[in-house]
Amino acid sequence: MDQSRWKSRKVVITGAGAVGATFAYALAQSGTADEICLVDVNEDFLKGQVLDLAHGMPFYPAVDIYSGNKLDYEDAHVIVITAGAKQKQGESRLDLLKRNADIMEKIVDDIVETNSDAVIVVVSNPVDVLTHVALNKSGWPRGRVLGSGTVLDSARFRYLISKNLSVNVRNVHAYIMGEHGDSEFASWSMTNIAGVPIDTYCDRNKTIDNWPEVRKEIVQEVRNSAYHIIDYKGATNFGVGLALVQIIGSILRNQKRILTVSSLMEGEYGLEDVCLSVPCVVSQKGIENVVLSNLTDKETKQLNNSAKTLKKALGSLNR
Ligand SMILES: NC(=O)c1ccc[n+]([C@@H]2O[C@H](COP(=O)([O-])OP(=O)(O)OC[C@H]3O[C@@H](n4cnc5c(N)ncnc54)[C@H](O)[C@@H]3O)[C@@H](O)[C@H]2O)c1
Repeated sequence: MDQSRWKSRKVVITGAGAVGATFAYALAQSGTADEICLVDVNEDFLKGQVLDLAHGMPFYPAVDIYSGNKLDYEDAHVIVITAGAKQKQGESRLDLLKRNADIMEKIVDDIVETNSDAVIVVVSNPVDVLTHVALNKSGWPRGRVLGSGTVLDSARFRYLISKNLSVNVRNVHAYIMGEHGDSEFASWSMTNIAGVPIDTYCDRNKTIDNWPEVRKEIVQEVRNSAYHIIDYKGATNFGVGLALVQIIGSILRNQKRILTVSSLMEGEYGLEDVCLSVPCVVSQKGIENVVLSNLTDKETKQLNNSAKTLKKALGSLNR
Protein backbone atom coordinates (compact mmCIF):
# COMPACT_ATOMS: atom_id res chain seq x y z
CA MET A 1 0.00 0.00 0.00
CA ASP A 2 1.69 3.21 -1.19
CA GLN A 3 0.03 6.03 0.75
CA SER A 4 2.12 8.71 -1.00
CA ARG A 5 -0.16 8.19 -4.04
CA TRP A 6 -3.06 9.79 -2.19
CA LYS A 7 -2.88 13.47 -3.07
CA SER A 8 -6.11 14.20 -1.25
CA ARG A 9 -8.72 12.36 0.76
CA LYS A 10 -10.58 11.06 -2.26
CA VAL A 11 -13.59 8.79 -1.90
CA VAL A 12 -15.12 7.07 -4.93
CA ILE A 13 -18.72 5.89 -4.53
CA THR A 14 -19.76 3.29 -7.10
CA GLY A 15 -23.54 3.24 -7.29
CA ALA A 16 -25.19 6.67 -7.00
CA GLY A 17 -28.62 5.36 -5.94
CA ALA A 18 -30.42 5.94 -2.65
CA VAL A 19 -27.57 4.66 -0.46
CA GLY A 20 -24.65 6.04 -2.51
CA ALA A 21 -26.14 9.54 -2.82
CA THR A 22 -27.26 9.76 0.82
CA PHE A 23 -23.81 8.68 1.92
CA ALA A 24 -22.24 11.31 -0.40
CA TYR A 25 -24.49 13.98 1.14
CA ALA A 26 -23.59 12.99 4.71
CA LEU A 27 -19.89 12.62 3.89
CA ALA A 28 -19.78 16.06 2.26
CA GLN A 29 -21.27 17.63 5.40
CA SER A 30 -18.87 15.78 7.68
CA GLY A 31 -15.85 17.58 6.21
CA THR A 32 -13.94 14.28 6.22
CA ALA A 33 -13.26 13.99 2.48
CA ASP A 34 -11.61 16.43 0.05
CA GLU A 35 -13.05 14.81 -3.07
CA ILE A 36 -16.19 12.76 -3.58
CA CYS A 37 -16.46 11.07 -6.95
CA LEU A 38 -19.62 9.21 -7.94
CA VAL A 39 -19.75 6.47 -10.57
CA ASP A 40 -22.87 4.76 -11.94
CA VAL A 41 -23.83 2.79 -15.06
CA ASN A 42 -26.95 4.94 -15.46
CA GLU A 43 -25.33 8.06 -16.91
CA ASP A 44 -28.34 10.42 -16.90
CA PHE A 45 -29.25 9.45 -13.37
CA LEU A 46 -25.63 9.99 -12.32
CA LYS A 47 -25.60 13.47 -13.91
CA GLY A 48 -28.77 14.41 -12.00
CA GLN A 49 -27.54 13.09 -8.66
CA VAL A 50 -24.16 14.79 -8.95
CA LEU A 51 -25.60 18.16 -10.02
CA ASP A 52 -28.04 18.08 -7.13
CA LEU A 53 -25.30 17.15 -4.63
CA ALA A 54 -22.76 19.61 -6.06
CA HIS A 55 -25.18 22.53 -5.77
CA GLY A 56 -24.67 22.24 -2.02
CA MET A 57 -20.96 23.07 -2.38
CA PRO A 58 -21.30 26.66 -1.08
CA PHE A 59 -22.76 25.19 2.12
CA TYR A 60 -20.60 22.12 2.83
CA PRO A 61 -17.11 22.33 4.35
CA ALA A 62 -14.59 22.49 1.44
CA VAL A 63 -15.15 19.47 -0.78
CA ASP A 64 -15.21 18.73 -4.51
CA ILE A 65 -18.09 16.57 -5.78
CA TYR A 66 -18.03 15.24 -9.33
CA SER A 67 -18.99 12.29 -11.53
CA GLY A 68 -16.27 9.97 -12.70
CA ASN A 69 -15.52 6.60 -14.18
CA LYS A 70 -13.35 3.55 -13.53
CA LEU A 71 -10.13 5.55 -14.05
CA ASP A 72 -10.95 7.37 -10.81
CA TYR A 73 -10.16 4.25 -8.79
CA GLU A 74 -6.43 4.77 -9.35
CA ASP A 75 -5.80 7.51 -6.77
CA ALA A 76 -8.80 6.87 -4.53
CA HIS A 77 -8.19 6.48 -0.83
CA VAL A 78 -11.46 4.61 -0.25
CA ILE A 79 -13.83 3.01 -2.77
CA VAL A 80 -17.35 2.43 -1.48
CA ILE A 81 -19.42 0.00 -3.54
CA THR A 82 -23.19 0.45 -3.29
CA ALA A 83 -23.92 -0.71 -6.85
CA GLY A 84 -26.53 -3.38 -7.09
CA ALA A 85 -29.27 -4.80 -9.22
CA LYS A 86 -32.85 -4.88 -7.97
CA GLN A 87 -34.85 -8.13 -7.86
CA LYS A 88 -36.74 -8.68 -11.15
CA GLN A 89 -40.26 -10.08 -11.15
CA GLY A 90 -40.10 -13.84 -10.67
CA GLU A 91 -36.35 -13.76 -10.00
CA SER A 92 -35.12 -15.97 -7.16
CA ARG A 93 -32.90 -14.61 -4.38
CA LEU A 94 -30.12 -16.85 -5.64
CA ASP A 95 -30.38 -15.49 -9.20
CA LEU A 96 -30.26 -11.97 -7.79
CA LEU A 97 -27.23 -12.93 -5.72
CA LYS A 98 -25.51 -14.28 -8.84
CA ARG A 99 -26.23 -11.07 -10.78
CA ASN A 100 -24.92 -8.93 -7.93
CA ALA A 101 -21.83 -11.11 -7.59
CA ASP A 102 -21.18 -10.62 -11.34
CA ILE A 103 -21.53 -6.83 -10.91
CA MET A 104 -19.16 -6.92 -7.91
CA GLU A 105 -16.53 -8.96 -9.77
CA LYS A 106 -16.61 -6.58 -12.74
CA ILE A 107 -16.17 -3.52 -10.50
CA VAL A 108 -13.32 -5.15 -8.57
CA ASP A 109 -11.63 -6.11 -11.87
CA ASP A 110 -11.79 -2.45 -12.91
CA ILE A 111 -10.32 -1.38 -9.56
CA VAL A 112 -7.47 -3.88 -9.65
CA GLU A 113 -6.65 -2.92 -13.25
CA THR A 114 -5.80 0.63 -12.10
CA ASN A 115 -3.31 -0.72 -9.56
CA SER A 116 -5.18 1.26 -6.91
CA ASP A 117 -3.96 1.45 -3.30
CA ALA A 118 -7.46 2.08 -1.99
CA VAL A 119 -9.40 0.35 0.73
CA ILE A 120 -12.63 -1.16 -0.64
CA VAL A 121 -15.80 -0.95 1.45
CA VAL A 122 -18.64 -3.14 0.17
CA VAL A 123 -22.19 -2.05 1.02
CA SER A 124 -24.29 -3.89 -1.61
CA ASN A 125 -26.32 -6.79 -0.23
CA PRO A 126 -25.95 -9.54 0.73
CA VAL A 127 -22.99 -7.62 2.08
CA ASP A 128 -21.07 -10.47 3.76
CA VAL A 129 -21.18 -12.72 0.70
CA LEU A 130 -20.32 -9.87 -1.68
CA THR A 131 -17.42 -8.79 0.55
CA HIS A 132 -16.05 -12.33 0.20
CA VAL A 133 -16.54 -12.23 -3.58
CA ALA A 134 -14.76 -8.83 -3.78
CA LEU A 135 -11.89 -9.98 -1.57
CA ASN A 136 -11.34 -13.17 -3.59
CA LYS A 137 -11.49 -11.31 -6.89
CA SER A 138 -9.07 -8.60 -5.73
CA GLY A 139 -6.40 -10.93 -4.41
CA TRP A 140 -5.68 -8.17 -1.85
CA PRO A 141 -4.95 -8.78 1.84
CA ARG A 142 -8.08 -9.07 3.96
CA GLY A 143 -7.58 -5.70 5.67
CA ARG A 144 -8.14 -3.80 2.44
CA VAL A 145 -11.53 -5.26 1.56
CA LEU A 146 -14.25 -4.98 4.17
CA GLY A 147 -18.03 -4.80 4.29
CA SER A 148 -20.26 -2.32 6.09
CA GLY A 149 -21.52 -5.42 7.92
CA THR A 150 -23.56 -4.79 11.06
CA VAL A 151 -22.36 -1.23 11.77
CA LEU A 152 -25.89 -0.04 10.99
CA ASP A 153 -27.48 -2.86 13.01
CA SER A 154 -25.25 -2.00 15.99
CA ALA A 155 -26.39 1.64 15.70
CA ARG A 156 -30.02 0.50 15.71
CA PHE A 157 -29.28 -1.66 18.75
CA ARG A 158 -27.67 1.24 20.64
CA TYR A 159 -30.56 3.53 19.71
CA LEU A 160 -33.15 1.08 21.08
CA ILE A 161 -31.23 0.46 24.32
CA SER A 162 -30.83 4.21 24.80
CA LYS A 163 -34.56 4.84 24.25
CA ASN A 164 -35.64 2.04 26.58
CA LEU A 165 -33.20 2.94 29.37
CA SER A 166 -33.45 6.74 28.96
CA VAL A 167 -29.73 7.19 28.66
CA ASN A 168 -27.61 8.99 26.06
CA VAL A 169 -26.87 6.74 23.09
CA ARG A 170 -23.16 7.68 23.25
CA ASN A 171 -22.92 5.99 26.67
CA VAL A 172 -24.29 2.75 25.23
CA HIS A 173 -21.62 0.32 24.03
CA ALA A 174 -23.25 -2.52 22.18
CA TYR A 175 -22.56 -4.74 19.18
CA ILE A 176 -24.61 -6.79 16.78
CA MET A 177 -22.44 -9.56 15.36
CA GLY A 178 -22.51 -12.24 12.67
CA GLU A 179 -24.39 -11.96 9.38
CA HIS A 180 -25.92 -8.64 8.30
CA GLY A 181 -29.24 -10.43 8.03
CA ASP A 182 -31.58 -12.86 9.73
CA SER A 183 -28.95 -14.84 11.69
CA GLU A 184 -27.34 -11.76 13.28
CA PHE A 185 -27.29 -11.65 17.08
CA ALA A 186 -26.71 -9.28 19.99
CA SER A 187 -23.49 -9.76 21.88
CA TRP A 188 -25.01 -9.10 25.34
CA SER A 189 -21.77 -10.14 27.04
CA MET A 190 -20.07 -7.08 25.47
CA THR A 191 -22.95 -4.66 26.10
CA ASN A 192 -22.47 -2.02 28.77
CA ILE A 193 -23.70 1.40 29.84
CA ALA A 194 -20.76 3.62 30.71
CA GLY A 195 -18.72 0.53 31.58
CA VAL A 196 -21.43 -1.12 33.73
CA PRO A 197 -22.58 -4.49 32.27
CA ILE A 198 -26.10 -3.94 31.00
CA ASP A 199 -27.90 -6.47 33.23
CA THR A 200 -26.14 -5.04 36.31
CA TYR A 201 -27.05 -1.52 35.15
CA CYS A 202 -30.75 -2.43 34.84
CA ASP A 203 -30.74 -4.33 38.13
CA ARG A 204 -28.98 -1.64 40.20
CA ASN A 205 -30.42 1.52 38.66
CA LYS A 206 -34.09 0.51 38.45
CA THR A 207 -34.71 2.58 35.32
CA ILE A 208 -36.77 -0.23 33.78
CA ASP A 209 -39.17 -2.79 35.31
CA ASN A 210 -39.41 -5.58 32.76
CA TRP A 211 -35.86 -5.71 31.39
CA PRO A 212 -35.75 -9.46 30.50
CA GLU A 213 -38.76 -9.08 28.15
CA VAL A 214 -37.56 -5.76 26.73
CA ARG A 215 -34.14 -7.31 26.06
CA LYS A 216 -35.76 -9.91 23.79
CA GLU A 217 -37.93 -7.33 22.04
CA ILE A 218 -34.95 -5.09 21.30
CA VAL A 219 -33.08 -7.84 19.41
CA GLN A 220 -36.19 -8.73 17.42
CA GLU A 221 -36.73 -5.07 16.57
CA VAL A 222 -33.12 -4.66 15.37
CA ARG A 223 -33.41 -7.74 13.17
CA ASN A 224 -36.69 -6.53 11.63
CA SER A 225 -35.76 -2.84 11.26
CA ALA A 226 -34.75 -3.02 7.60
CA TYR A 227 -37.90 -5.00 6.71
CA HIS A 228 -40.10 -2.42 8.44
CA ILE A 229 -38.40 0.57 6.78
CA ILE A 230 -38.53 -1.10 3.36
CA ASP A 231 -42.25 -1.85 3.88
CA TYR A 232 -42.88 1.79 4.78
CA LYS A 233 -40.71 3.60 2.20
CA GLY A 234 -39.11 1.10 -0.17
CA ALA A 235 -35.45 1.40 0.87
CA THR A 236 -33.21 2.34 3.79
CA ASN A 237 -30.73 5.13 3.21
CA PHE A 238 -30.24 7.68 6.04
CA GLY A 239 -28.99 5.36 8.80
CA VAL A 240 -26.66 3.47 6.49
CA GLY A 241 -25.36 6.75 5.02
CA LEU A 242 -24.25 7.88 8.48
CA ALA A 243 -22.87 4.46 9.40
CA LEU A 244 -20.70 4.72 6.29
CA VAL A 245 -19.43 8.16 7.35
CA GLN A 246 -18.16 6.53 10.57
CA ILE A 247 -16.42 3.70 8.72
CA ILE A 248 -14.91 5.84 5.97
CA GLY A 249 -13.99 8.60 8.46
CA SER A 250 -12.06 6.08 10.53
CA ILE A 251 -10.12 5.03 7.41
CA LEU A 252 -9.46 8.55 6.08
CA ARG A 253 -8.42 9.92 9.46
CA ASN A 254 -6.78 6.76 10.80
CA GLN A 255 -9.07 6.96 13.82
CA LYS A 256 -8.90 3.29 14.82
CA ARG A 257 -12.56 3.19 15.76
CA ILE A 258 -13.90 -0.19 16.80
CA LEU A 259 -16.71 -1.03 14.42
CA THR A 260 -18.58 -4.21 13.52
CA VAL A 261 -17.51 -4.27 9.88
CA SER A 262 -17.61 -7.49 7.89
CA SER A 263 -14.18 -9.04 7.53
CA LEU A 264 -12.63 -12.33 6.54
CA MET A 265 -12.11 -14.58 9.54
CA GLU A 266 -8.60 -16.06 9.62
CA GLY A 267 -8.97 -18.26 12.70
CA GLU A 268 -10.52 -15.61 14.95
CA TYR A 269 -13.36 -17.02 17.04
CA GLY A 270 -12.43 -20.42 15.57
CA LEU A 271 -13.69 -19.39 12.12
CA GLU A 272 -11.99 -19.54 8.71
CA ASP A 273 -12.89 -18.57 5.17
CA VAL A 274 -16.06 -16.60 5.90
CA CYS A 275 -16.74 -12.85 6.00
CA LEU A 276 -18.97 -11.69 8.84
CA SER A 277 -19.16 -8.96 11.44
CA VAL A 278 -17.21 -8.92 14.68
CA PRO A 279 -15.75 -5.77 16.26
CA CYS A 280 -12.64 -4.65 14.36
CA VAL A 281 -10.17 -1.77 14.71
CA VAL A 282 -10.62 0.29 11.53
CA SER A 283 -7.66 2.44 10.46
CA GLN A 284 -6.14 3.87 7.28
CA LYS A 285 -5.10 0.31 6.40
CA GLY A 286 -8.74 -0.80 6.49
CA ILE A 287 -9.04 -3.55 9.08
CA GLU A 288 -6.13 -3.16 11.47
CA ASN A 289 -7.15 -6.13 13.61
CA VAL A 290 -10.10 -8.16 14.77
CA VAL A 291 -11.05 -7.59 18.42
CA LEU A 292 -11.29 -10.85 20.37
CA SER A 293 -13.58 -11.29 23.35
CA ASN A 294 -14.85 -14.14 25.52
CA LEU A 295 -18.26 -14.82 24.03
CA THR A 296 -20.74 -16.90 26.02
CA ASP A 297 -21.53 -20.43 24.79
CA LYS A 298 -24.84 -19.16 23.38
CA GLU A 299 -23.12 -16.32 21.49
CA THR A 300 -20.48 -18.70 20.13
CA LYS A 301 -23.27 -20.94 18.81
CA GLN A 302 -25.00 -17.92 17.24
CA LEU A 303 -21.77 -16.81 15.57
CA ASN A 304 -21.18 -20.33 14.23
CA ASN A 305 -24.75 -20.38 12.95
CA SER A 306 -24.17 -17.13 11.02
CA ALA A 307 -20.93 -18.56 9.59
CA LYS A 308 -22.77 -21.70 8.45
CA THR A 309 -25.54 -19.65 6.79
CA LEU A 310 -23.03 -17.47 4.97
CA LYS A 311 -20.83 -20.36 3.84
CA LYS A 312 -23.92 -22.02 2.37
CA ALA A 313 -24.83 -18.83 0.45
CA LEU A 314 -21.26 -18.45 -0.83
CA GLY A 315 -21.18 -22.15 -1.78
CA SER A 316 -24.38 -21.73 -3.81
CA LEU A 317 -22.54 -19.22 -6.00
CA ASN A 318 -20.00 -21.86 -7.05
CA ARG A 319 -17.10 -19.42 -7.30
N1 LIG B 1 -25.07 -3.00 4.10
C1 LIG B 1 -26.06 -2.23 4.52
O1 LIG B 1 -26.17 -1.91 5.73
C2 LIG B 1 -27.06 -1.74 3.52
C3 LIG B 1 -28.12 -0.87 3.88
C4 LIG B 1 -28.99 -0.42 2.90
C5 LIG B 1 -28.85 -0.88 1.58
N2 LIG B 1 -27.84 -1.73 1.27
C6 LIG B 1 -27.64 -2.24 -0.10
O2 LIG B 1 -27.03 -1.21 -0.88
C7 LIG B 1 -27.29 -1.46 -2.26
C8 LIG B 1 -27.79 -0.18 -2.92
O3 LIG B 1 -29.07 0.16 -2.43
P1 LIG B 1 -29.84 1.42 -3.04
O4 LIG B 1 -31.11 1.54 -2.27
O5 LIG B 1 -28.91 2.58 -3.16
O6 LIG B 1 -30.18 0.88 -4.51
P2 LIG B 1 -30.45 1.76 -5.81
O7 LIG B 1 -31.12 0.85 -6.78
O8 LIG B 1 -31.10 3.04 -5.44
O9 LIG B 1 -28.97 2.12 -6.34
C9 LIG B 1 -28.12 1.18 -6.92
C10 LIG B 1 -27.36 1.90 -8.01
O10 LIG B 1 -26.35 1.00 -8.52
C11 LIG B 1 -26.21 1.32 -9.89
N3 LIG B 1 -25.48 0.23 -10.55
C12 LIG B 1 -25.93 -0.99 -10.93
N4 LIG B 1 -24.93 -1.68 -11.51
C13 LIG B 1 -23.83 -0.89 -11.51
C14 LIG B 1 -22.49 -1.04 -11.94
N5 LIG B 1 -22.08 -2.17 -12.53
N6 LIG B 1 -21.63 -0.02 -11.77
C15 LIG B 1 -22.04 1.14 -11.20
N7 LIG B 1 -23.29 1.34 -10.74
C16 LIG B 1 -24.18 0.34 -10.90
C17 LIG B 1 -27.64 1.53 -10.37
O11 LIG B 1 -27.69 2.24 -11.60
C18 LIG B 1 -28.22 2.32 -9.20
O12 LIG B 1 -28.13 3.72 -9.40
C19 LIG B 1 -28.33 -2.60 -2.29
O13 LIG B 1 -27.67 -3.82 -2.56
C20 LIG B 1 -28.89 -2.58 -0.88
O14 LIG B 1 -29.42 -3.84 -0.51
C21 LIG B 1 -26.95 -2.16 2.19
